[in-house]
Amino acid sequence: MTGGATRHGVSSGDGWYLPRTRVSPRRVSQSIGRERDVRKRLLWAVALVAMTLLLGACSGDLPQNTFDPAGPTAQKQKDLLMPVLWVAAVVFVLVEGGIVLIAIKYRRRKGQERMPPQIHGNTRLEIGWTIAPAVVLAFVMVPTVGLIWELAERPPGAMQITVKGYQWWWGFEYHDEDMQVSYGQGGPIATADVMVIPVGETIDLSIESAGGLIGGADPDYQVAHSFWAPRLFGKQDAIPGRTNHIVFSADEPGTYWGQCAEFCGLQHARMRFRIVALDDADWRAWVDNQKQPAVEPTDPLAKQGMDLFLNGTSSGGQCTACHAVGGTNATSPAGPNLTHYADPDHECFAGCNWETTDVESLKAWLRNPPAVKLGSKMPNYDLTDEEIDALTAYLLSLT
Ligand code: CUA
Repeated sequence: MTGGATRHGVSSGDGWYLPRTRVSPRRVSQSIGRERDVRKRLLWAVALVAMTLLLGACSGDLPQNTFDPAGPTAQKQKDLLMPVLWVAAVVFVLVEGGIVLIAIKYRRRKGQERMPPQIHGNTRLEIGWTIAPAVVLAFVMVPTVGLIWELAERPPGAMQITVKGYQWWWGFEYHDEDMQVSYGQGGPIATADVMVIPVGETIDLSIESAGGLIGGADPDYQVAHSFWAPRLFGKQDAIPGRTNHIVFSADEPGTYWGQCAEFCGLQHARMRFRIVALDDADWRAWVDNQKQPAVEPTDPLAKQGMDLFLNGTSSGGQCTACHAVGGTNATSPAGPNLTHYADPDHECFAGCNWETTDVESLKAWLRNPPAVKLGSKMPNYDLTDEEIDALTAYLLSLT
């Protein structure tokens, strides 16, 4: 190669490049400053990694641990995840290790002002690092595609439950023939925040976004959610105008936590739910109770609450605008169905942010919903303390 000007500098004629300019004292001091910056940043990165590991070690009880599957769907997903993670770990160590090794071994040293040989356009290397990732991806793809097909299968005879994502809570409707309510016009058993299932039984979930139900055509309500109970199954999107499916079952009776996994507005992070798996006898009892209309309260305070609920509060608040209570004239599907609000298996309320047994939180919620759950679609009705006590007594009577 003969000498001449290039993009990188001035070729000396022997394949090495000389920088175009001499290094001035100002540049040297700048470069020392830069080195200090780099060292500072490196220190931050190390501190961050150490902190993450430290905080990770603090975790004890993990109700949403995807590595602790409690049903066949989550188990199969984990069985696929692990080998893929190992492949990724090997690739990570090789690539990052190589980068660190080369960066240290061939770093710029004092008094060394030449440009290293440029290797771009090396056909053998280019072909090599195109084929290697393709082989790795092919290795990962075969079991992945196989499992996608397997999990997409909807076995006939599975229990049919519709999951609807609202802002910001989840509603569940049971469509099997023997799961229709005995009052009014009939229709599926409906619950909010907690989905109760029989242990060991295969469930076919139809997942939808209920956006338009209370928002009409308002695009603010037409949001996607994602339904995810990590110990039972991976995420599935709830998309306006579309129905997706998850087929799953739970191996053991118990409570399995889940939450929305797709940003859907202010309360996304607190759009939680629980799946309660019951053994056969408990399940039958639960279904029989759910089929019944709400019990009429006998307690005078609860009766007063029922009157407020059905006929409006002193401020003109209408609970019936959004809520249904089976067997009464409250039939709106816009908000959570409260027919069996205080059923012991209905463990939590308002996006599962509070336990149903937490009466003080229920009162705080009734006093001003948007104050305790920012952006809540349930308005502040300026209820009096007496009205709050009466409504609380009524809700807690709905077993
Ligand atoms: Cu619903 Cu995020």
